[in-house]
Amino acid sequence: MDKILVHGGRRLSGSIKISGSKNSSLPILAATLLTREPCVVHGVPDLSDTNYMLQILAHLGAQVERASGTVTVTAEKVHCVAPYDIVRKMRASVCVLGPLLGRCKEAAVALPGGCVIGDRPIDLHLKGFEALGAAVRVEGGDIKVFAPKLRAAQIDMQGIFGPTVLGTDNVMMAAVLAAGVTVIEGAACEPEVVDLANFLNKMGAKIEGAGTTRIVIEGVHELHGAEHRVIPDRIEAGTFLVAGAIAGDGVTVKRVEPEHVRAVTDLLARCGYAVDVAGDSISILANGSASALEIVTEPYPGFPTDMQAQMCALLSTNRGTSSVTENIFPQRYMHVAELKRMGANVRLEGATAVIDGVGSLLGAPVMASDLRASAALVLAGLKADGVTEVSRVYHIDRGYEHLDEKLSELGAHIERVKSE
Ligand code: EPZ
Repeated sequence: MDKILVHGGRRLSGSIKISGSKNSSLPILAATLLTREPCVVHGVPDLSDTNYMLQILAHLGAQVERASGTVTVTAEKVHCVAPYDIVRKMRASVCVLGPLLGRCKEAAVALPGGCVIGDRPIDLHLKGFEALGAAVRVEGGDIKVFAPKLRAAQIDMQGIFGPTVLGTDNVMMAAVLAAGVTVIEGAACEPEVVDLANFLNKMGAKIEGAGTTRIVIEGVHELHGAEHRVIPDRIEAGTFLVAGAIAGDGVTVKRVEPEHVRAVTDLLARCGYAVDVAGDSISILANGSASALEIVTEPYPGFPTDMQAQMCALLSTNRGTSSVTENIFPQRYMHVAELKRMGANVRLEGATAVIDGVGSLLGAPVMASDLRASAALVLAGLKADGVTEVSRVYHIDRGYEHLDEKLSELGAHIERVKSE
């Protein structure tokens, strides 16, 4: 397994182009199963997660071609079983259930395992499918859904931890071919849900209200091929802005949608970083006297859970006492023990991390655990004295396109050590 060595103390400057959104690409690639015609998707980042999705589509019978960031999928004939050995690698593969149900009126997908950020239930997805008239069975670790005829329904997707992003996507994709008008209440409002709805509408679907908690879908008889460019990755953008706050003498992220990153830029400005938005670029300057913060993760447009670990790394050396409360995945604190190995002063009180800023961090061998926690450890290494060795960086490669190379372009002294 590869490692990343981060030599702390270097200042970052310059600009970086942000890649297409991972969390937009995955459901949009799944949605190509809804038509026999070719679909062309631009801006798909080269990540292990997106490549797993392409493997799944190919396994399901689709013809898949990738030319750098452009993926062409032609699902002329599909069969409806996604096998465990691929699904287990990526939980988000559950989002092929909706399009398979819409297209084939049946689907079987291995039940996704949990992961280090917590149990990842899909009860709300299944509740939505049942409301659309599907019979749902869990058999031998597979979820099997079957609906001779899908019917429109009124569905509430709100769960105890708020709306479900992929659940909203899945039900939307199953409903687009269901006769009648389906209403999803308590829908997720994330930009990635809007991007999927825009792609489905280009395919001939009739979806209104995406981006609000009430999505209305008028079923159509069939969908046709479409061409689309996925939105920029707001979490990658936020991650690089935090890198600029930690060690930057002027870092600019380009090709972003500033509105999608507003919850992050507002907090960075609030604790004292100079943030400047100009068109599709955002610049940030480090600030040695930036202050503590109180952060609560919330569904969009609130502060995103996917930026929580990165902010913990930043706040570990901001003067004062910060608190970070994780409302979406209350166990999402695998990074805390590793940050403490670097000298951070963090204590967990239930789903809240209380961070007393320290003067500096010390480089140490640390272990990556999930995608965003891994990025947080690299960020902490940028400002630590000495070398931070981050192991199991395959977690990073799942969701960041060449993170180490992009940080090097900004001036970081960072090297990837290939495993023997
Ligand atoms: C998406 O996951 C993202 N992944 C996650 O990003 C992100 O953290 C999450 O949304 C929240 O914003 C992709 O889009 C591929 P949820 P998703 O269903 O859709 C509970 C990353 O780092 N829940 O919105 O799987 C769930 O346990 C990844 O890029 C139920 O209870 O998350 C959680 O507490 C990590 N029942 C909350 O809802 C369900 O049926 C939100 O989960 C579904 C979810």
